[in-house]
Amino acid sequence: MKRQLAVEKAKELLEKMTTEEKVAQMIQVTYTDGGREEALKWAKMGAGSFLHVLGDDARELQREAMKTRLGIPVIFGIDCIHGHGLNTSATIFPSQLTCACSWNPEVARVMGEVSAREVATDGLHWTFSPVLCLARDTRWGRVNETFGEDPYLAGELGAAIIKGYQGDDLSDDEHILACAKHYLAYGEATGGRDAYDTEVTERKVREVFLPPFQKAVEAGCATIMTAYGFTDGTPLTADRHIMHDILRDELNFDGFVITDWDNTQSLVWLQHIAADISEASVMAASAGNDMIMTTKGFYEGMLNALKEGKVDISVVDEAVLHILTIKYEMELFDKPEKKGEPGCFGKEEHLDAARDAARKSVTLLRNNGMLPLGNGIKKIAVIGENADNVRAQYGDWTYFTHPVPDPTNSRPAHRPYVTLWEGVKEICDQEGIEASYAKGCAVIPKGEDDLEEAVRIAKDADAIIYAVGDVIPQFGEFSDRADLNLSGKQYELFELLKATGKPICTVLISSKPLCMGITAEQADAVVCGFNGGMFAGQALAEAIFGKINPSGRLPISFPHHSGQIPVYYNQMPGWHGGKYNDMPKTPLFAFGEGMGYSAFEYENLTCGSDLQVSVTVKNVGKVEGTETVQIYQNDCVSSVLTPVRRLIAFTQVTLGAGESKEVQIQLKKDDFALINKKCEKVVEPGEFILYAGHSSKEEDLISITIKM
Ligand code: GLC
Repeated sequence: MKRQLAVEKAKELLEKMTTEEKVAQMIQVTYTDGGREEALKWAKMGAGSFLHVLGDDARELQREAMKTRLGIPVIFGIDCIHGHGLNTSATIFPSQLTCACSWNPEVARVMGEVSAREVATDGLHWTFSPVLCLARDTRWGRVNETFGEDPYLAGELGAAIIKGYQGDDLSDDEHILACAKHYLAYGEATGGRDAYDTEVTERKVREVFLPPFQKAVEAGCATIMTAYGFTDGTPLTADRHIMHDILRDELNFDGFVITDWDNTQSLVWLQHIAADISEASVMAASAGNDMIMTTKGFYEGMLNALKEGKVDISVVDEAVLHILTIKYEMELFDKPEKKGEPGCFGKEEHLDAARDAARKSVTLLRNNGMLPLGNGIKKIAVIGENADNVRAQYGDWTYFTHPVPDPTNSRPAHRPYVTLWEGVKEICDQEGIEASYAKGCAVIPKGEDDLEEAVRIAKDADAIIYAVGDVIPQFGEFSDRADLNLSGKQYELFELLKATGKPICTVLISSKPLCMGITAEQADAVVCGFNGGMFAGQALAEAIFGKINPSGRLPISFPHHSGQIPVYYNQMPGWHGGKYNDMPKTPLFAFGEGMGYSAFEYENLTCGSDLQVSVTVKNVGKVEGTETVQIYQNDCVSSVLTPVRRLIAFTQVTLGAGESKEVQIQLKKDDFALINKKCEKVVEPGEFILYAGHSSKEEDLISITIKM
């Protein structure tokens, strides 16, 4: 159904609703809090939505909702963050951060499309994804959920996955609603502290954090989720200027907004800006939150506020109209349950999509010639807990971590999946190479380390593949880390392995950049896998043995030391000395960095008056490879400080050995805009440096100066 017709039908229904029915429609109830009986009670009261409920439990609630006086169907939301991970049969894709290493919007779109089909097959309508926060302080526990540190890359991939989730028609049976979150600047909280204060000005919000959400709105994202945190002392949940004036009046967002988990109640007990739930309910609704996640007290709180004249019913009407409009546009009244594609879980097309995403995300960061492994190698030692740990490989937001975290982490793993050890073993068996595995040490010390066993198999091998990283309790919501060093005896084990004199390839299997130290600086090769999903191990092994030519590029910078944070690439000029006096000037690995078994050179960068950029890229390597051509700009003189470099475009090109190609990229004038002191988006006349190249590093770029 088209939006305008949906609005008309929503208005008609709104007029028939009682005040109680309207307020109930704004409430989203979680199934995991109070279970079936409590949920059925709310379905009978006309709650508008439920979350964290699947399959038959969801169908039962929908039946109850359809029996209410006006039979308004509920909308089911779920955290499908990199696949429908709360369902044990689902296809688990690489995390958003890992997917971002592909720099490939089509990979993101397909991830959204396949995930949507599986969510819809569960009868559900809506995912709380994508995360469009920016990960600029890697101490934050939720870095893995983001597309990295850059607004442009996050916006491009976010718009793509939204299109994958939603398709072209919200009523389509195999597509679901997307939810751009967490609006906004949630990842910028001081100290990387989850849900904490974000000391940003409105100008900074508009310059850095708003652009990805603007692209989400332009992509037609149906819902937005409000961030937990607060900017300059005002919780987003209570900030009408950001939640309504900017989001609706400026960005023209016309879907509905949902708070994050119990954020209305948080205004009382956590952020202490509301004296009671009634005041908090009025604040949240008046700020522009249409749906209230899990704060059931909102029902009485809002009804009391209405009775006491503390808020006008028009606030509730506006919220309910936004919700009902989307429900009509989805044709939920005619089709209360998505059908999806019965039997699609585990179909080859879905598994192939996850495998392809994993392959395109593998990022080779260092190689002194050790890779690709092969000729002359007779024995390989694979070492490290994360080389055979599917939970670490999956990362956050799967049935291992949610909906109710299992502290013992004892939930059984469901095939298919391939760990790094299994992927290496598979290739070694095919190639007649002997492979052995030893855990060596636990990522989180549990006293069961056996470094000697690891050293023994290493001494007996021709090459070592050593996996380092983090594990589930070390990342996620409420799980920020002040110290990003590798935990346990991971460094110590590396030293022992290094002392064997055998070539070592370090593989990072982690939720985020960690301070790899000697495990990167003294390794013969370094491969970044982050949380690569079901087939991470297969993709990593294929890259290590040269079965695929790795093409990943980092969407996020790696600090040498936690104290060096922030190390994101688009830093401002003006730091005296430009570095800490006890740290290198550059990060361990830079945004946009990544290599393969080819090598690429750039020349002949030009930019026409029509802003068409042309650059010649040549593959000077010996094998075909895919290059991500990155375009950055620097505003030479600007009325406010602007970053030393800012990504404004990228494209990918596959070139055979020795092949070169003139790559064309069309820029827009807007790519050179800044947010001035008056918070206006303007392009100031003057010179700009235009860069093209392989990464954000100066040495990887060629440049010209243009005039705007
Ligand atoms: C959580 C998260 C949010 C998630 C929601 C529902 O607290 O902040 O990202 O979608 O609650 O699970």
